[in-house]
Amino acid sequence: MTNAVNVQNIGIVGAGQMGSGIAQVCAQCGYSVSLADISQDVLDKAVTGIGGRLQRLVEKERLTQDALDAAVGNITTKTDYAGFGDCDLVIEAATENEEIKKSIFENLIPALRDDAILATNTSSISITRLAAATDRPERFIGMHFMNPVPVMKLVELSKGIATDEATYSAVNTVVGKLGKTSITSEDFPAFIVNRILVPMMNEAIYVLQEGIGGVTDIDGAMKLGANQPMGPLELADFVGLDTCLAIMQVLYDGFADSKYRPCPLLVKYVEAGWLGRKTGRGFYDYSGDKPVPTR
Ligand code: CAA
Repeated sequence: MTNAVNVQNIGIVGAGQMGSGIAQVCAQCGYSVSLADISQDVLDKAVTGIGGRLQRLVEKERLTQDALDAAVGNITTKTDYAGFGDCDLVIEAATENEEIKKSIFENLIPALRDDAILATNTSSISITRLAAATDRPERFIGMHFMNPVPVMKLVELSKGIATDEATYSAVNTVVGKLGKTSITSEDFPAFIVNRILVPMMNEAIYVLQEGIGGVTDIDGAMKLGANQPMGPLELADFVGLDTCLAIMQVLYDGFADSKYRPCPLLVKYVEAGWLGRKTGRGFYDYSGDKPVPTR
């Protein structure tokens, strides 16, 4: 029954870094967006952040004030799933934790129409396994946005074993309307981008742990020597060290191959609560005007 789905109303669950970015681009492209989070504080911060980013675009004369007002007007925030019955597509963008995602689906599904598509922004977890925890594996799909969502052009789509073509096609159409490009990955741990990117960051942390270079040497090497816009440690802080560790763990468990072992120094940082930019400290200290390397 997914053939007729013409997506107009989009629900987003989770208003953190990824959810708020997804909400922004959807609202800017004229979709009506319901943004849900358990925390009103997180929702308020998301709306303030979106308003601020759009305001900067107005100042740079890349967006009109009318377009800003329209985009902000397209977003409704909620701490429950009331109104999600109007959504044609719901994108789950919660923490990278399988149990949390499954518990969200359990609470969310009773609020959805039968023909609504459910997508997950998971960056590593099996789409097939998440889909099996829902009532609609054929209308369930991986829709992985990159951070920062408003800037990055890619959305990585991944079909679970049961995902039907109509679902893929409806979601791929949305990606195009958002001005982004999709690639399609088979449903294997961490898909394509993170299968390659996150072990690279993990290896950089090994290089740091082994004392082969300091933070500045490692990031400088990869920025100047491999033309990466951010060095791997800067990027790990940007993505969130907890997310990096969760992805390494999914790769390690999924392939049972020691080449994916999480670096002990990464584990130690996460255990210390040094999660990168979002907590003010990771491989850099963000408390001052400029990030300062910590090793
Ligand atoms: N949100 C929205 N826009 C942002 C932004 C943010 N968080 N950060 C920067 N921008 C915008 C700026 O407004 C600016 O826009 P204009 O060019 O239109 O003026 C543009 O991006 C460039 O920003 P800056 O000049 O301030 O800084 P920069 O040139 O250093 O670029 C960057 C910043 C785009 C983030 C760049 O450093 C970059 O591309 N870094 C790598 C990002 C990356 O690899 N992302 C993937 C992470 S992996 C992932 O997401 C998958 C996963 O599951 C873990």
